[in-house]
Amino acid sequence: MLPDIEEKKTFVREKFAAISPRYDLLNSVLSFQMDRYWRWVTTRELRSFPDGAVLDLCAGTLPLSLELTRQAAGRRVVAIDFCEDMLRAGVKTMSRDGRAGRIQPVCGDGEEIPAAADRFWGITVAFGVRNLANTRKGLAEMWRVLKPGGKLLILEFSRPRNPLVKPVYNFYLNRILPRIAGVVSGDREAYQYLADSIAAFYEPRELLAMMREAGFAKAYARPLTFGIVTVYVGVK
Ligand SMILES: C[S@@+](CC[C@H](N)C(=O)[O-])C[C@H]1O[C@@H](n2cnc3c(N)ncnc32)[C@H](O)[C@@H]1O
Repeated sequence: MLPDIEEKKTFVREKFAAISPRYDLLNSVLSFQMDRYWRWVTTRELRSFPDGAVLDLCAGTLPLSLELTRQAAGRRVVAIDFCEDMLRAGVKTMSRDGRAGRIQPVCGDGEEIPAAADRFWGITVAFGVRNLANTRKGLAEMWRVLKPGGKLLILEFSRPRNPLVKPVYNFYLNRILPRIAGVVSGDREAYQYLADSIAAFYEPRELLAMMREAGFAKAYARPLTFGIVTVYVGVK
């Protein structure tokens, strides 16, 4: 069952706090390490902005923030998440290779981004938009803080359409994944929420329409790995 809108923020924050110590491990086990490839592809979309500040929204344990700083030595990242435990777990395990100094973790809400207008050349949101209680409000805020000409990248789960892949994926997502995740994290409900929220999330064309409504131009969607995830691109 999915929580209703009012309860969603509290539910999501508490669930991520509960799984934060195991989040990175589960991510790579449950995705067969494909999550790294997906984050790499997403980050590459910002290669025309190697300098200046990028916002990593719903940054969690900072995996995408790290990839953003790895791909460009002159880039700084403001990493915002409303779950302090997720940010702390990320900071604790961050390698001491100099990239940490270019990442600024900030505890804040993606629907009321604590940043001035026209501040960032790029925004990345990996597996975060699905968790927002109000998608339109979040997109409007992303548009506000992006510089004119800047780029928004959303990486999010989608539902594969291939008739051979679809039943296997659904079986894995609904039956196998919550069980493994339950044992490893001690919180099966969090991963049942993952399956339910993927099933309930917008179709790519619907999210694209919302991005355009929010003001983003040149918006398109690029499915990866049979459409298990999709990268959405938009320009302010
Ligand atoms: C699935 S995790 C993704 C973390 C990271 N981006 C990654 O690639 O693994 C989703 C994150 O979104 C955060 N989140 C959900 N709603 C949020 C909101 N309204 N404002 C800020 N962060 C939010 C959660 O706390 C969680 O850390």
